[in-house]
Amino acid sequence: MPGLIDIAGLRKEYPMRGGAVQALRGVTLSVQAGEYIAIVGASGSGKSTLLYLLGMLVTPTAGQYRFDGKEVQTLSDVERSRLRGREIGFVFQSFHLLPQFTVLENVLLASRYCPPAREDPSRRALQLLERVGLSHRLEHHPAELSNGEMQRVAIARALLTDPRLLLADEPTGNLDERTGNEITALLEELNREGKTVILITHNPALAGRAARRIAIKDGQVAA
Ligand SMILES: Nc1ncnc2c1ncn2[C@@H]1O[C@H](COP(=O)(O)OP(=O)(O)O)[C@@H](O)[C@H]1O
Ligand SMILES: [Mg+2]
Repeated sequence: MPGLIDIAGLRKEYPMRGGAVQALRGVTLSVQAGEYIAIVGASGSGKSTLLYLLGMLVTPTAGQYRFDGKEVQTLSDVERSRLRGREIGFVFQSFHLLPQFTVLENVLLASRYCPPAREDPSRRALQLLERVGLSHRLEHHPAELSNGEMQRVAIARALLTDPRLLLADEPTGNLDERTGNEITALLEELNREGKTVILITHNPALAGRAARRIAIKDGQVAA
């Protein structure tokens, strides 16, 4: 059965002076819609590269990538950006909020690249910020928030276009244990509501809660 994601023989080489870095050496895997997957592995093993390839932020050196049946390599840059904007939300370890904008503006920025289809973006942004418990922080700037609050804003931003896939690169890496557990619970709840979630984590407890784990070693799937 074709998955939401099917990749085969995916390689990524970063050209560097003094010899290329082989970040991924032929990764093949399928992800079904609705899965919750933890990617684990040592630092430098290629986890982020794999996640950003899946997120269409990085172009593979070789291999095939089908997203929802579409051959990603055959899309134009515009088509790929549109697909990414509509279907994929990103959450990062260091939040990647823009400091000069308010909480509400940061969430709304996601609609600049891909307006939500049916809804007024402002209304949806307000609903999402309420959902993540930040209705009382709309006019705050990121510097005025705790790390956990910043990650909630980032999750609301990732959800603005109602993407099918959420990609998170060590989303709890800058959070204390309790806040990290809250963010994990939120991601798990979104998965139960139907989002496909793929996250990278160093935390064995979080990885253990995922229904499926993919271990990366030296740019390959180890288990
Ligand atoms: N933009 C880049 N340019 C050159 N080398 C990179 C780049 N990004 C990652 N790498 C290298 O690719 C390998 C895999 O990196 P990465 O995917 O970030 O691993 P991980 O997320 O598992 O720590 C590492 O050796 C890293 O130094
Ligand atoms: Mg990484």
